[in-house]
Amino acid sequence: MKKTLSMVVVILVLSAVLLSACGGGDTNSAEYNVPADYAGKTDPYTGNADAEAAGMAIYEAKCQSCHGASGMGDGPAGQALNPPASDLTKLVGQAGDDYLYYRIAEGGAMDPYNSSMPPHKSVLSEDEIWQVVTYIKTLK
Ligand code: HEC
Repeated sequence: MKKTLSMVVVILVLSAVLLSACGGGDTNSAEYNVPADYAGKTDPYTGNADAEAAGMAIYEAKCQSCHGASGMGDGPAGQALNPPASDLTKLVGQAGDDYLYYRIAEGGAMDPYNSSMPPHKSVLSEDEIWQVVTYIKTLK
């Protein structure tokens, strides 16, 4: 009887350890996975007020209907989507410049996102994408 009980305890402890190990690792790598073509890119305009203003104008024209005026994913068009438009304020300080650039350029029509986030690499120049990235980083 005692032996069975301690076996149960050992199994419970082991599965808790295994679960937390897998869970933690997976979310991070899947969420901010950046393909080689984009990995390591850095925003040349971080903190530049002119770029922030230019980025804000682009944001209002091309992003706000889905991501909302404050970036919280509460735009009228974004709420109806499945998955819904993301809360961009949650990315600030979490995702790297390279991830932001990649997601804005390529959109969401690929694994693991499979979303209606439109690609912008043919409608915005590299400079314009960086301006929007600079602006997004001011959202809190
Ligand atoms: C048609 C609606 C729509 C428009 C317009 C749109 N997005 Fe999105 N966006 C989405 C949806 C839906 C997601 C969530 C699913 C995903 O990650 O692909 C998303 C995800 C993102 C992400 C990744 C967020 C994360 O949590 O990983 C970024 C960054 C982003 N959008 C930025 C932008 C920017 C900047 C613009 C404008 C240049 C824009 N989006 C325009 C719908 C939109």
